[in-house]
Amino acid sequence: MKNAIARREWLKQTSMALAATGFIPSLFHGEKMIYPPPAVSIRLHANENPYGPSPLARTAMAAAIAGSNRYPWEQTTTLREKIGQQYQLSKDHVLMGAGSSEILGLVASFAALQPGNMISATPTFNLWWTVAQQQGMQVIEVPLTAGKEHDLPAMLSKITPDTRLVYVCNPNNPTGTIVAADRLSSFIIAASQKALVLLDEAYLEYTEEPSLAPLLASNKRLVIAKTFSKIHGMAGARIGYALAHPDLIQQLTALQPWANAGPSAVSVAGALASLDDKDFLLTSKKNNAAVRGYTAEALKAAGLPFIPSYTNFLYYSLQQDKGDFLKALANNNIRVGRIVEEKGKWARISIGTQDDMLAFVTTLRKTFTT
Ligand SMILES: Cc1ncc(COP(=O)(O)O)c(C=O)c1O
Repeated sequence: MKNAIARREWLKQTSMALAATGFIPSLFHGEKMIYPPPAVSIRLHANENPYGPSPLARTAMAAAIAGSNRYPWEQTTTLREKIGQQYQLSKDHVLMGAGSSEILGLVASFAALQPGNMISATPTFNLWWTVAQQQGMQVIEVPLTAGKEHDLPAMLSKITPDTRLVYVCNPNNPTGTIVAADRLSSFIIAASQKALVLLDEAYLEYTEEPSLAPLLASNKRLVIAKTFSKIHGMAGARIGYALAHPDLIQQLTALQPWANAGPSAVSVAGALASLDDKDFLLTSKKNNAAVRGYTAEALKAAGLPFIPSYTNFLYYSLQQDKGDFLKALANNNIRVGRIVEEKGKWARISIGTQDDMLAFVTTLRKTFTT
């Protein structure tokens, strides 16, 4: 009894102390520690789906907790089969990872087995480049066009006999632009004759464009990276996958410490259920489009240039900001992306819920409409 009171007091004091630091507001809810802690800010900096995980995924994940004492081998194989079927491929075309970041890193390590360079647009999603660079690979950056789109002819022209990897993020993060499937397909066919191509389709489900997975039926030098972090709303569950020809999947698998063992039993269960929750996926897509339209209108009204987006984020210019806007957002507990390109002061904002964006737009109006 004494111990229980002492523990309760300790929990209370610890959470109050943490709250005082500003990191976590309060973990003390009755006697329970809860996860996640209540949101301290409006998160518009990581392109997460604000509505997820889907109802079916939540139920499946909760149910999977009890089975977490067992390795999820069978369920992971079922998931690979199910993903394969979605693209008229087999489980042997699918490799699982703890998020698609693991896949990008794996492909970088594979490509770097032979010294050389990799070609990528800039700016793009580049966190994982360090994996390639640490292993001696030189990154050749090809600027986007003035419209912030991939410059595919320029990228193709940069490929040399030393090129080991060509990366295309479609739609592109942070700009939200997209290359149509037919143009990209021609590019991939040409580029993959010279080097391995890595196509990142993290945000494709927000668009009307089809996946280029059908190319994998014959193309042995293409890897497509996919994730459950975006439209499936499972960023915290850390689950993603690669699609590639089975020969290539085998070579990539050999670089994993334990084949397909990244995602947890809970994540695998959530992913299996999420694939079936078509209503959730459709609603997420529709809500995102509506709220993105609202945000774009507000940027336009405030006179800030932005790039039409096919994703759950917008790329906009803060050139006319006198330096107050990002500070004002931070003061209002709204977390946003940093300035990505100094020239033009281009920054990225993720699309949250209508309420999230109302908070963003309110700060926007106050700053720019004086
Ligand atoms: C284009 C792109 N690819 C991959 C990722 C990695 O996502 P995850 O590791 O959560 O699957 C992100 C994350 O924001 C991204 O924007």
